[in-house]
Amino acid sequence: MAKIQKKHVSSEGWEGVAHWYTGWAGAGGSVYHRKLAIPAVMGLMNPREGQHILDMGCGPGALAQHICRRGAWYTGIDCSRKLLHFARRHNGGDRTRFLSGDATALQGHPELDEGSFDGVVFLLSLQDIHPLEGAIDSAAWALRPGGQLVIFMTHPCFRVPRQSGWGWDAQRKLHYRRIDRYLSALEVPMQPHERGRGTTRSYHRPLSQYFREIVQRRLVVDAFEEYAIPGEISRKFSGNADNRDIPLFLAVRARKY
Ligand SMILES: C[S@@+](CC[C@H](N)C(=O)[O-])C[C@H]1O[C@@H](n2cnc3c(N)ncnc32)[C@H](O)[C@@H]1O
Repeated sequence: MAKIQKKHVSSEGWEGVAHWYTGWAGAGGSVYHRKLAIPAVMGLMNPREGQHILDMGCGPGALAQHICRRGAWYTGIDCSRKLLHFARRHNGGDRTRFLSGDATALQGHPELDEGSFDGVVFLLSLQDIHPLEGAIDSAAWALRPGGQLVIFMTHPCFRVPRQSGWGWDAQRKLHYRRIDRYLSALEVPMQPHERGRGTTRSYHRPLSQYFREIVQRRLVVDAFEEYAIPGEISRKFSGNADNRDIPLFLAVRARKY
């Protein structure tokens, strides 16, 4: 773990863990995608017939079919060739396209035009993309005036990779959430996965940094939501039944003016 000092290629590592990630999440997304993230994004974006939606860091493309079912057009961008291959195979269709590209530098992409999208989504990807400025710049560039940016991500106040966790207070007999660091931006190599090669990186930034980058780019925040993991998922998958009041995910919606 280190303070962020220079530009790292945030895509490093995703190629190596692509097989593990698609096995874990599947074509339709993990239980967190299906129960929490995708419904939240669809609710905030509310895509309509004929609209064009861009999914940044789309990975296996679990969002694609949800967008197309509304009669909208879906474009997914990712830097991992293997994840894009999986996405095309499992989530491709008449109204979808999956493009290779760097989400932090979309300007000049041969298949994308400035101001051509009604919506841009980061679905559980922005905390893994660096630099943040480049990612938000690209989103603002791709959006038409009046278009919407929707970000669904891990909650940086309560989920700092390797610097937060659950604890048990024996005296008070309660589970608590411990946060060891917050204000410093951090670049955190994630634990290598058993079935993967290489290490992905996650980027912690305080909430203020996200909002600063958003509002500097003619984007006005008009919705902000926080989500705890529903009890039934948390008991089944993390064995912790006491975290229903601590939001581990958040969503932001902003409109370009
Ligand atoms: C945690 S995965 C999320 C994937 C997908 N949105 C989902 O919810 O399943 C993060 C994704 O961001 C992609 N990514 C990271 N940095 C990127 C960059 N600079 N440009 C494009 N994609 C990037 C990775 O390849 C990976 O697919």
